[in-house]
Amino acid sequence: MGKTCIIEVEGLHTRFGSHVVHRDISLCVRPGEVLALVGGSGSGKTVLMRQMLGLETPAAGSIRVFGESLHGHDREALQSLRNRWGVLFQKGALFSALSVYDNIALPMRELRTLSEGMIRDLVMLKLKMVDIGAEHAAKMPAELSGGMIKRIALARAMALDPELLFLDEPTAGLDPQLGEAFVKLIHAMRTELTLTIVMATHDLDTLVALSDRVAVLAEQRIVALGSLQEVAGMEHPFIASFFRGERGQKALGNTLS
Ligand SMILES: Nc1ncnc2c1ncn2[C@@H]1O[C@H](COP(=O)(O)OP(=O)(O)OP(=O)(O)O)[C@@H](O)[C@H]1O
Ligand SMILES: [Mg+2]
Repeated sequence: MGKTCIIEVEGLHTRFGSHVVHRDISLCVRPGEVLALVGGSGSGKTVLMRQMLGLETPAAGSIRVFGESLHGHDREALQSLRNRWGVLFQKGALFSALSVYDNIALPMRELRTLSEGMIRDLVMLKLKMVDIGAEHAAKMPAELSGGMIKRIALARAMALDPELLFLDEPTAGLDPQLGEAFVKLIHAMRTELTLTIVMATHDLDTLVALSDRVAVLAEQRIVALGSLQEVAGMEHPFIASFFRGERGQKALGNTLS
């Protein structure tokens, strides 16, 4: 792993009690790429992301983000690292007790350097970026559709103009049409901005539309890593059923031929 990695994972082991989730995982997330994590349910995609965010500590191994180790940092140093990435979680995308406006403003307020006037302008800009009208700013999450919640959660993840974005199942729970629109939005954003993305997804259409490289998690390891085309052809039971099953062939049709 000689060259620069935005995220560098080395020799990572994870276990919960006697349940081993990851065994010796190493991975380099390259600048500007969209790296997709795929694997069966429970294969450890979310846990790996949470470790990259410093929210969970692996049993062994190291993770460096922007060249900095996530461990052995004081709170302040970790916070300034956190300000450089945005996250769209698999569950609980928004704080239910806060309005749309306050959800997006929260990370800005936590910086303690921006005036409320500046924050207002920035919140409106972020809403516009995700195509949500200003008339929704005062609404509470419970009043919104699933598609809108995802967009607003994305606006919040982008609140501090991060260089790195984590997306955990970005299109889960959206109907195909909304899912496609959301993928288009992420695609447009990543074309306009300098952004590295780590994404976990089960959705083949999302994978095809967004990923530059794919890492397949199975048997506690990364069993394949490469372009979609490279990975989809590999000999492995999970890969065969996921990429070359009926749904996989449909989604990958044009990519593989
Ligand atoms: N805090 C925890 N305590 C105990 N076990 C946990 C904990 N967090 C995760 N696990 C276990 O670790 C394994 C990996 O979970 P993880 O959520 O990362 O899977 P995933 O690949 O994201 O699955 P999905 O595709 O369903 O989102 C699972 O078996 C899960 O039960
Ligand atoms: Mg998950």
